Amino acid sequence: MRRNLISGLFVTALIFGEASFAQETADAVAPEGASEGQAQGLTDEVIASLEAKMAGQPVTSQNWMVAAANPLAVEAGAKVLRAGGSAADAMVAVQVVLGLVEPQSSGLGGGAFLVWYDAATGKLTTLDGRETAPLEADHRLFHDENGEPLKFYDAVVGGLSVGTPGTPALLEEAHRRWGRSPWPSLFQDGITLADEGFLVSPRLATLVEADAERLSRFPVTADYFLPEGEPLQQGQRLMNPDYADALRVLASEGSAGFYGGEVAAGIVSTVRGAPGNPGVLSGVDLALYQVIERDPVCAAYRAYEVCGMGPPSSGALTVGQILGMLDGYDLAAMGPEDAHTWRLIGDASRLAFADRGRYMADHDYVPMPTQGLVDPAYLSERGQLLGGEGALTEAAPGNPVFDHASNWADDVSLELPSTSHISIVDQYGNVLSMTTTIENGFGSRLMTNGFLLNNELTDFSFKTHSDGVPIANRLEPGKRPRSSMSPTIVMQDGKPVLAIGSPGGSRIIGYVAKSIIAWADWDMDVQQALSLPHLVNRFGTYDVELGTAAEGFSDPLIELGFEVNPRDLTSGLHAIAIGDVLTGGADPRREGIALGE
Ligand code: GLY
Repeated sequence: MRRNLISGLFVTALIFGEASFAQETADAVAPEGASEGQAQGLTDEVIASLEAKMAGQPVTSQNWMVAAANPLAVEAGAKVLRAGGSAADAMVAVQVVLGLVEPQSSGLGGGAFLVWYDAATGKLTTLDGRETAPLEADHRLFHDENGEPLKFYDAVVGGLSVGTPGTPALLEEAHRRWGRSPWPSLFQDGITLADEGFLVSPRLATLVEADAERLSRFPVTADYFLPEGEPLQQGQRLMNPDYADALRVLASEGSAGFYGGEVAAGIVSTVRGAPGNPGVLSGVDLALYQVIERDPVCAAYRAYEVCGMGPPSSGALTVGQILGMLDGYDLAAMGPEDAHTWRLIGDASRLAFADRGRYMADHDYVPMPTQGLVDPAYLSERGQLLGGEGALTEAAPGNPVFDHASNWADDVSLELPSTSHISIVDQYGNVLSMTTTIENGFGSRLMTNGFLLNNELTDFSFKTHSDGVPIANRLEPGKRPRSSMSPTIVMQDGKPVLAIGSPGGSRIIGYVAKSIIAWADWDMDVQQALSLPHLVNRFGTYDVELGTAAEGFSDPLIELGFEVNPRDLTSGLHAIAIGDVLTGGADPRREGIALGE
């Protein structure tokens, strides 16, 4: 019966309705709904949540909620929350399972940013668990023998791109500050699933097949993802005893057991011994790794403060800039059906990306006009550039208030989407928004101790200078690469009202900004906001979501002067709105759900 139910959901998801753009939600944007293979073993509450998502309905609850990219991971988090754990505890359990069942997107070998609202103190803070460049790396890491930048995938695949992982230290730090459950208990579901096996999801199977050649280059990786030379199949039971062992070490020794000892030795030898493309990560880098607490970056939008992760992420700054420039325009009155709405959003985004490319990087290494970039007066002035009738002919960086003499050249780094987002509210009123990544799908493709190693260093600009002017996001030893991850908590009158974030490389910024606009200006509930077809503009070309009503804007946007590119836009938004009840949504483009009680 479940097979039929899930098949029915899948078919429904592929049908195009006659609805307006704003009404067309899950029907058109669900290329990765639940599947028969994944249906085996799903609980009734998971099926109910999947059903709600595919019908475009949010999930509601009174006490707690968790939304993430895979039902098994969400169930692990729900179990912790139900037993009285905090949002930080639940996040550890979710991340540990995600690293097993969605290994291509995030895990122990990667990094993450966490935004936390603390109910007891009423304060918002962030933890930076971003990877660092090895101390032996320098600005020539991604140059060939002629000093020219490497091709992107020549840099990604192998040891060169691997930065010092930050996720294990972040899990420990979040638990140390805000945990209520015993640390070892948070690993139990991950260990059991790794020992006993889990069913390969449709998304994982599809991505393994698509990446089979790169995954086949390294024997340990190939043995896991291509057993006997064949890509993993959807519904196949997969065990990962090495990952179970790594989790046991973390559970019993804490992150010291990751950053030293056998796990660390395995990481270093895998990176430095990578055939064809060895890297320079060392035991010293691992031993020195530290999570950094940073103030959130907040920008005003309507009645809200939109708060998130500041540098080294460009996320909160760029989302905040887009919204701040649009604050002077009545998007609520214009609505989502008007092409000029998308002209404004698209050009605000282009202006924000121009500033991002010029100014944003790890501000522990380069001076940055962080506050100047989200200053309301600056954004109001930039917003006035949008007052015309057609697309901007040029989107150049602005001149935010900057009390430093440095000048930077525009960045040319390329980010391709992987990553995963977790939103959690616990029964104590704490709110967590965390985006977690190993960068590219399957990261560096190197695997050790049952997890993949990141390729986060390719988030640095491969070029160090442009016409003799240094680029802020150039690689330097110990530096953290600029990110687009935008874990966000929206505040109103000092209280959290929305937790949201997404994977998607630098399109994360557009996915998050657009969903906040849909929720704040167009009165959409979180599921409608997440399901709304995407239109994303970063550097000039307007990406419109293929096979959805967003394509209906192609001609009007071309007439307004944009170049338009219909394409898949596989976000992975997970959001929880906090009001009288908790209202959760999961992106119909991926396999996640929201669960609450
Ligand atoms: N590697 C994706 C990001 O950090 O934005």
